[in-house]
Amino acid sequence: MILEIQDIRKTYRGKKRVEALKGISLSLQQGEIFGFVGPNGAGKTTLIKIIAGILKPDSGTIKILGNSPTTPEGKKLRGFLPENPQTLRNLTGREFLKFCASVLGKTDEDIEKLLSLVGLKAAAERRIKEYSKGMLQRIMIAQSLIGDPPLLIYDEPLSGLDPIGRKDVKQIIKGLKARGKTVFFSSHIIEDVEELVDRVAIIKDGLTIRVQELGKPRKFTIRYYKNGELVTIRVERERLWEQLEKIRATGEIYEVKPSEIELEEMLDEKNN
Ligand SMILES: Nc1ncnc2c1ncn2[C@@H]1O[C@H](COP(=O)(O)OP(=O)(O)O)[C@@H](O)[C@H]1O
Ligand SMILES: [Mg+2]
Repeated sequence: MILEIQDIRKTYRGKKRVEALKGISLSLQQGEIFGFVGPNGAGKTTLIKIIAGILKPDSGTIKILGNSPTTPEGKKLRGFLPENPQTLRNLTGREFLKFCASVLGKTDEDIEKLLSLVGLKAAAERRIKEYSKGMLQRIMIAQSLIGDPPLLIYDEPLSGLDPIGRKDVKQIIKGLKARGKTVFFSSHIIEDVEELVDRVAIIKDGLTIRVQELGKPRKFTIRYYKNGELVTIRVERERLWEQLEKIRATGEIYEVKPSEIELEEMLDEKNN
């Protein structure tokens, strides 16, 4: 296990008391892409800041290859991409300094390699304030890779990007996996996660609802013609072949595909 999260609890005690995390436990295997999905306000950013070591939990433990994320050893093992990096002003002064301080141990050669990796060699001389959101996200990903850490923690890396920007960032994340990196990223957009991750955790109201492997879809959507009409049904993986045989006897199959709304359903499970 590269990352072990055990029973993390966090309550913000400002004017209003917000119980942001109510006991979250997860563990990540080396080399996997892990999606952390949930609606706004679910507690994703809070957990990510705790994993990055810039926010302390009230209780619970985090270990990155056995190290606490608040130690220098722990920080060397992870790269961090904060939520909305164009608004670094939204971080507290301390958070911002801690963030900058984590950017250590680089050589010029490393930087050139990183610029190539994120496709920003040509734009390397341009001011970041002139970058598009996608370019900004990519330079921040490059930042996270300084020091070549095995674990990358990205908070909403795909949010607010146009389709091309999303494709670029997805490609980079896939490339990281190919190089043996472990990526933990959050998103409130289900489709992003489905395409990228090996496993996903669903978080709602500060609790993990479920951890799911996405290698094999659990459900399929079958569309077929029956008496000239297009019918859509959804079946469990176990019943797929049986159902297809049945349809073949009476109708004409139009398409069969993994159910895209599977994760949406998972999110809804605890709503009722
Ligand atoms: N610094 C803070 N002070 C008080 N409440 C906060 C703070 N940061 C987040 N919260 C609250 O904690 C909950 C979880 O927030 P957050 O972790 O940002 O969720 P997410 O990233 O999933 O949108 C929300 O109700 C949010 O309003
Ligand atoms: Mg957030």
